[in-house]
Amino acid sequence: MTDIRVLDDEAQYRAHSTLFRRAMHWPPASDEQWEVARHSYEAGRVLAAFENDEMVGTTASFGSSLVVPGGSVVPHSAISRVGVRADHTRRGVLTSLMREQLSALPDPVATLRASEGRIYGRFGYGLAGRVRFVEIDAKRAVIPGEMTGRVRMVDQDTADKLLLELHDAFGLNRPGQISRWPGWWARARDRKGEAENSVTIIHSGPDGDDGFLTYKVSTEKDFKHRMSIEDFEWANDDAWRDLWIAVLRLDLIDHIENEVSLDDPVTLLFEDPRVVVTKDVFDEIWLRLVDVPRMLAARTYGAAEAVVIEVRDKLLPANDGCYRVSPDGAERVDEQADLTIPVDLLGAVYLGDTTFSQLAAAKRIEGTRLADADALFAVARKPYCGTFF
Ligand SMILES: CC(C)(COP(=O)(O)OP(=O)(O)OC[C@H]1O[C@@H](n2cnc3c(N)ncnc32)[C@H](O)[C@@H]1OP(=O)(O)O)[C@@H](O)C(=O)NCCC(=O)NCCS
Repeated sequence: MTDIRVLDDEAQYRAHSTLFRRAMHWPPASDEQWEVARHSYEAGRVLAAFENDEMVGTTASFGSSLVVPGGSVVPHSAISRVGVRADHTRRGVLTSLMREQLSALPDPVATLRASEGRIYGRFGYGLAGRVRFVEIDAKRAVIPGEMTGRVRMVDQDTADKLLLELHDAFGLNRPGQISRWPGWWARARDRKGEAENSVTIIHSGPDGDDGFLTYKVSTEKDFKHRMSIEDFEWANDDAWRDLWIAVLRLDLIDHIENEVSLDDPVTLLFEDPRVVVTKDVFDEIWLRLVDVPRMLAARTYGAAEAVVIEVRDKLLPANDGCYRVSPDGAERVDEQADLTIPVDLLGAVYLGDTTFSQLAAAKRIEGTRLADADALFAVARKPYCGTFF
């Protein structure tokens, strides 16, 4: 019998950490790592599965906010630290943890990063946003024109304080973006310390600091140097372009790697668009609509005739029902549905990464009025989070 408990003391948090890390094939946190990690556990959000009083599975969430299409910011749970002890897998431990976690989440929406693509659909999470990994041939890359602002490098202590302030000051402005919680920043500082080679550049425009970029460089065979951009946020287009110019001015760099949104205009910066190569497209945001009526009402919709969508949710049946979606908003109705969709796939279309027509073509949903549904859920920008957890 699996028993799910909410953990509430540090010894249990450390056991939770060890179990999760072992499930990921990582060693337990050292005392030094634990000193940082222990502050990241949020009371009431740390769950473990027990069998015969032994911990066999873990999950946790962090309180955050998420931007939805139209710009509203909603309370959001970032789900992480999911693991089941290797000698207890495929016996329903995760299923018990997910059921319990979902039924008690305080926020109307949750997102996570998935270690494998087949795990979370059954729990109502849909693939809602993807990222593109680009590599830039730095020796050939030329951005025409000059910088409009100034850049400066800051030391690690300054970066630790300033990045948090700037991230807050820039605000949340793109669908899929989330706020970063104190424990996230603590872990980020810790990871930079481990790398010991991270450098942060700050950009200033006419109104002060308005962008930052953190990178690290590794030396490869034949004295080639590869830069990986680890964190890049900006408040306006000038800051974004200037920071690219700044990294391309650095000596010795042969290649620059970065993770960008699917529609990021980075290729358009360069005289020769072939200096940017897309190496991979990978899933970023897995999204679970926990409170469907609230989340459908939270976003805006494009111009089209109203469509009635029937939502099916096996784990949270309070979401089951028909919703009329129109340019004026969304409300629950007692009407004949135009199309029917399971909650994980509604998560996949919610931020605009996937369309109803694509799902119908793949025989994942059935119904009519697909073009209207696509137009209602259409977005100007592809979703992108940019914060790994
Ligand atoms: C992924 C993990 C948490 C699953 O835990 P679990 O207790 O074995 O999951 P359950 O027994 O509840 O499985 C539920 C269903 O999901 C399926 N499933 C679970 N993990 C899966 C995987 N990695 N790949 C494919 N299917 C998987 C099971 O087969 C089962 O399907 P069924 O209901 O049709 O029988 C566990 O395998 C694990 O800890 N893996 C390593 C760490 C990891 O990847 N964590 C996730 C971080 S995002």
